[in-house]
Amino acid sequence: MTKPLRIAIAGLGTVGGGVVKALQARGDELAERAGRRLDIVAVSAKNRRKPRAFILPAAWSEDPVALASADADVVVELIGGEDGPARALVEAALASGKHVVTANKALLARHGARLAALAEERGLALKFEAAVAGGIPIVKALRESLVAHGIASVRGILNGTCNFILTNMERTGRSFADVLKEAQQLGYAEADPTLDVGGADTAHKLALLASLAFGTAPDLDHMPVEGIEHITPEDIGYAREFGFRIKLLGIAKRMGADIDQRVQPAMVRAGTPLGDVDGAFNAVAADAGEAGPFFFEGRGAGEGPTASAVIADLVDIARGSVGPAFGKPAGTLTPLRSAPPGAASSAWYLRFEVLDVPGVLAEIAGHLAESRVSIESMLQRGRNPGEPVSIVMITHDTPQAAVTHVLKAIATSDKVLGRPRLIPMEAG
Ligand code: HSE
Repeated sequence: MTKPLRIAIAGLGTVGGGVVKALQARGDELAERAGRRLDIVAVSAKNRRKPRAFILPAAWSEDPVALASADADVVVELIGGEDGPARALVEAALASGKHVVTANKALLARHGARLAALAEERGLALKFEAAVAGGIPIVKALRESLVAHGIASVRGILNGTCNFILTNMERTGRSFADVLKEAQQLGYAEADPTLDVGGADTAHKLALLASLAFGTAPDLDHMPVEGIEHITPEDIGYAREFGFRIKLLGIAKRMGADIDQRVQPAMVRAGTPLGDVDGAFNAVAADAGEAGPFFFEGRGAGEGPTASAVIADLVDIARGSVGPAFGKPAGTLTPLRSAPPGAASSAWYLRFEVLDVPGVLAEIAGHLAESRVSIESMLQRGRNPGEPVSIVMITHDTPQAAVTHVLKAIATSDKVLGRPRLIPMEAG
């Protein structure tokens, strides 16, 4: 058998620990599949004395960046963060001729094209299956398996925390804040949940998927990002009445030569694959042109799924698969040409908080008619003369620019209270 692949791992948290355990438990089987043994030769973690569920016969370093000079073939970066020690380690590892496997979506979304170029110049692999949707093998699928006909769109539920919160808001009718608190107590949400619930984590993953799908450099700067903090039980309840669920989606679609990429809560029909993704699961729907639509669902985080993705990359490297990180040579990744703001077209869910007085519906309908926004369904629950009441509408297919323009006009009415709610409807 060829000589072992020598692995240095930075970060022994949930994922790092899972990688070590799986490599130790299934070493022989993995060696057969990889054609050589996968040996851990060096590790780095903050606390050497922390009790762990495995014994490490490997060199220990307090300083993760020092792993770049370890006697290893590949460095696995599981520290996280778009800069700081994670970036320093990846740059130093590539500079010193080591392959890199990382789960770090923030780092690659921000610096991916440059790091990919650095890896290619030296004939090294930069692999990141674990960075997007945990155990789902979507990076390899887009990079290698679905290249024949090109990708028209890739859309996904990419953050398990958000999906857990939305699913539980729907089940219990409770508020975002209440369910978030429970998710934190159960360990599903971080103490600081901002990256997850604000949409940034989804944005990082979407930037990588868009790059793999369209051959563009990862681009976070041209991506509108909206999180789930403003989703109310009321909107979830109305969605359910119309047969929809609210999901936080990362969406990247070809629009001619442009790419429409955005992160936003969307109404997805219940009973469809995307609409029925429950709890902390992730899913990705890819439209691969003549190859047809594909749907991937699985666990997007946690020890087993994420370690599975890291090990898949290690096996690839052990076999000598060292292709370009984003599927095309880094120098050929084009800048993303983003679709003009507001160009995306869909049906829309609109909710107006209005005073229950004669003429308010006519006024709203008048504005919509003037702007040629056509209504498919409408609902007003109960009556509350002189007091606030909700009017909910679903439009026909309408460009976002047209619908936001008319909402501004409607919001000026003294019978309309607060800002109207606007949520796109997305195919499931
Ligand atoms: N925090 C992420 C999630 C997993 O909740 O899905 C890591 O990106």
